Amino acid sequence: MKTQVAIIGAGPSGLLLGQLLHRAGIDNVIVERKDPDYILSRIRAGVLEQGTVDLLREASVSARMDAEGLVHDGFELAFDGRSERIDLSALTGGKTVMVYGQTEVTRDLMQARAAAGALTVYEADQVQPHDMNSDSPYLTFQHNGETVRLDCDYIAGCDGFHGVSRQAIPAEALSVFERTYPFGWLGILADTPPVNHELIYANHERGFALCSMRSATRTRYYLQVGAEEQVEDWSDQRFWDELKRRLPAPVAERLVTGPSIEKSIAPLRSFVVEPMQYGRLFLLGDAAHIVPPTGAKGLNLAASDVSTLYRILLKVYREGRTDLLQKYSHICLRRVWKAERFSWWMTSMLHRFPDTDAFGQRMQQTELDYFVGSPAGRQTIAENYVGLPYEDIE
Ligand code: APR
Ligand code: PHB
Repeated sequence: MKTQVAIIGAGPSGLLLGQLLHRAGIDNVIVERKDPDYILSRIRAGVLEQGTVDLLREASVSARMDAEGLVHDGFELAFDGRSERIDLSALTGGKTVMVYGQTEVTRDLMQARAAAGALTVYEADQVQPHDMNSDSPYLTFQHNGETVRLDCDYIAGCDGFHGVSRQAIPAEALSVFERTYPFGWLGILADTPPVNHELIYANHERGFALCSMRSATRTRYYLQVGAEEQVEDWSDQRFWDELKRRLPAPVAERLVTGPSIEKSIAPLRSFVVEPMQYGRLFLLGDAAHIVPPTGAKGLNLAASDVSTLYRILLKVYREGRTDLLQKYSHICLRRVWKAERFSWWMTSMLHRFPDTDAFGQRMQQTELDYFVGSPAGRQTIAENYVGLPYEDIE
């Protein structure tokens, strides 16, 4: 088998890149370890930056998002018995975010790919990139009991944090930057009306809480929990009781509870690998970086990597600009590190850390107080939350 771009992984990164390339007439094949139902069963975050929304529109996969997604022009920060609204739109010259679940983005991308007749090989085992440093890289994998070889011009490693792409690069060619946090997020999905029309990020002495949503009838709530906590120990009742304790009293009073339809604990991690490229293999999305979810940046960073590689490949195939390929990693990492900083900062400012003493707690409260009390501080939060601009590809 032969294609122009071999894409490993059918998560949002791989599917979005595939869709954009396909529409531009650049042939690509996606090779994925799991089956579609498994991929669509994963519940992930749900806040899309303007740049992500624009890219989904450019890829012609935005019809349902535009019809069903919720445009949010602000969110609440609750701390110290106060509730402060960050007016995203007013602080950023009219920018907003779109609340639309990543699972739905993935579903729309899968449908578009199927409708376009582009090839995705699901349930491929032992996917392995080869000869990334030559002019003729290729993938091998097992499918239906056969060994398949896929020759290509370029390989896009869109296979997430546990994928094979990053691991296929010699360790000495990579620098890894990592931080793990001593807590996780316990998330619950429920068919209840949202407690607030906008998201609420709450700093509380019992730990962080987040009120989010998927629609006018479906909510997503999170609680900071200890790293060693087990989801089995959290009945729905215990979750709702704890959430109410951590929210401002008027919000807790109007919280509508109900049976959970999904409940899970996710660890929090910051992770970046440099460079995001090895010869003709490019890393995108979670394969190259992880952010803690506090800034809702995971999917949005994946989208900006996709935009960068897509625009470079367009120029490579249309104008012969192979010189741009060496710039991919630099361009991505400049934006990645800024989103890493924002996600780390939001996490540090909003969570309880086991080693935070009384001084540390005052510093955290004062940081919140200072930032929301200053127009410059509010603007800093807002411009990062809606997403920093994408760099032009010359
Ligand atoms: N071979 C083939 N496919 C693989 C392999 C492998 N060895 N390893 C992983 N995959 C597949 C996974 O099954 C998954 O479908 O790659 C896909 C990676 O998808 P994601 O983990 O969703 O990563 P990405 O597409 O970069 O999306 C980033 O997802 O995890 C969130 O916070 C993150 O929102 C961000 C977004
Ligand atoms: C979510 O809705 O799942 C969500 C929203 C905002 C975040 C993280 C997760 O910062």
